Amino acid sequence: MTTELSLVPWPAELETGGTPFVLDDSTVLVPDPGAEPTRLAEQLAAHLRSATGLPLPVTPGATPQANAAVRLALITDESLGREGYELTVTAEEVVIRAAAPAGLFYGAQTLRQLVPAGDRAVPGVRVRDVPRFGWRGMMLDIARHFFGTADIERFIDLVALYKINVVHLHLSDDQGWRLEIDGWPELARVGGRGQVGGGPGGYLSKAAYREIVAYAAQRYVTIVPEIDLPGHTNAALVAYPELSASEQPPEPYTGTRVGFSSLRVDSPQTAKFVRAVLTEVAELTPGPYVHIGGDEALSTPPDDYVRFMRDTVPVVASSGKQAVGWQEIVRAGLGPDALVQYWNTRQPEQAAEAARAGARLIMSPAAHVYLDMKYHDDWHLGQDWAGCVDVHDAYGWDPGTLVDGVDDTVVDGVEAALWTETITTMADIEVMTFPRLPAVAEVAWTPQARRDWDHFRARLAGHVRLWQALSVAFYRSEQVDWER
Ligand code: ACM
Repeated sequence: MTTELSLVPWPAELETGGTPFVLDDSTVLVPDPGAEPTRLAEQLAAHLRSATGLPLPVTPGATPQANAAVRLALITDESLGREGYELTVTAEEVVIRAAAPAGLFYGAQTLRQLVPAGDRAVPGVRVRDVPRFGWRGMMLDIARHFFGTADIERFIDLVALYKINVVHLHLSDDQGWRLEIDGWPELARVGGRGQVGGGPGGYLSKAAYREIVAYAAQRYVTIVPEIDLPGHTNAALVAYPELSASEQPPEPYTGTRVGFSSLRVDSPQTAKFVRAVLTEVAELTPGPYVHIGGDEALSTPPDDYVRFMRDTVPVVASSGKQAVGWQEIVRAGLGPDALVQYWNTRQPEQAAEAARAGARLIMSPAAHVYLDMKYHDDWHLGQDWAGCVDVHDAYGWDPGTLVDGVDDTVVDGVEAALWTETITTMADIEVMTFPRLPAVAEVAWTPQARRDWDHFRARLAGHVRLWQALSVAFYRSEQVDWER
């Protein structure tokens, strides 16, 4: 194979072989007038400056010298949609064109990948690119182990480079409640203490959460907050024992079992709690989604579970948001009212049932995209209940054909997930995320007909240079012939 450009995700259309553009001391970035193109040009310039050491000033609306400009231009082209872009590199100039600022952002990420480690010659290409799916997500569990603003923001930065546009934060579980809620202050103050294995835990203040949301928005990432209900609630019950069926205060939990906790469903106090928490989370969150969990509620009586979800989804709707639930939510018979996240590869029939009922789906099949699964049997982190997940497992599946009865017409997108029972540091997060997240990002972005494992693995090999430049911990899977 010829040396391919190390682009991941692979673009929908690409011509290579043109003359390179050489970045040098005279290169300027020229955004179209307007606050957002200028901000995006500054953001791109900052990346390129730290990679190349060049000055790369941003000069909105300027007429640059010949052979000296990286332009960001907004154009009218409905076929590009909100996220599509064109990137043209010739000896004369580099131009990113898009119909909306999000497209300029994605064009800029492609450009960053063309000069991964400070290279100054940008290969001559013509790219026209639009995503396959509108939801390209990554979930991070900050409940089993707590991770704060700095880690979450670095995580957002790293995944956005692969055109991920949803970061789903798993904010509550048995081991910890991680978001400050004004109306129910003990949730964070008491429920936020501790984590798996002990340790201090922690929580996001409302100000910290807002900061993360704003940081994500600058990278065209939507934060989807998850409050897991009615199971996975031990930490909430530690804070407010009156919400549990027994009304006895449970012990804080630092283990890794699931399925033992539940809200008491038939109580006015629980209804008040759910309404207050979800309304406050919705108010804090500009994005259109609130995730209400619903998985593994093994201690909630089945009829209560159905009643609870039928009561709770309308609460989310009345706060102006779309409810999202893990696949078990189909048991409540809500049809299209809840967006269903398929995860449990042992029960694909629940995904098919959701599709038949008119629901839309997010595909997170554990055997492919659970990045907390071990890479191989001897790997030191993670779990293996869904099998080991090496790069090929993360890459080699099609969201439109994986489950009988679920095709592209009902799939909104794809989301990888990183549960953190065994994950305690940012380096752990990174080494589980890279290189598998780039594989999942390509599943979500690139048309199926443009995807090929051997081609992908050859391109992925070049990302070592990018990860090293960004000091990212990653796993040298034996499935890839890594560049040294
Ligand atoms: C899940 O993995 N319990 C959604």
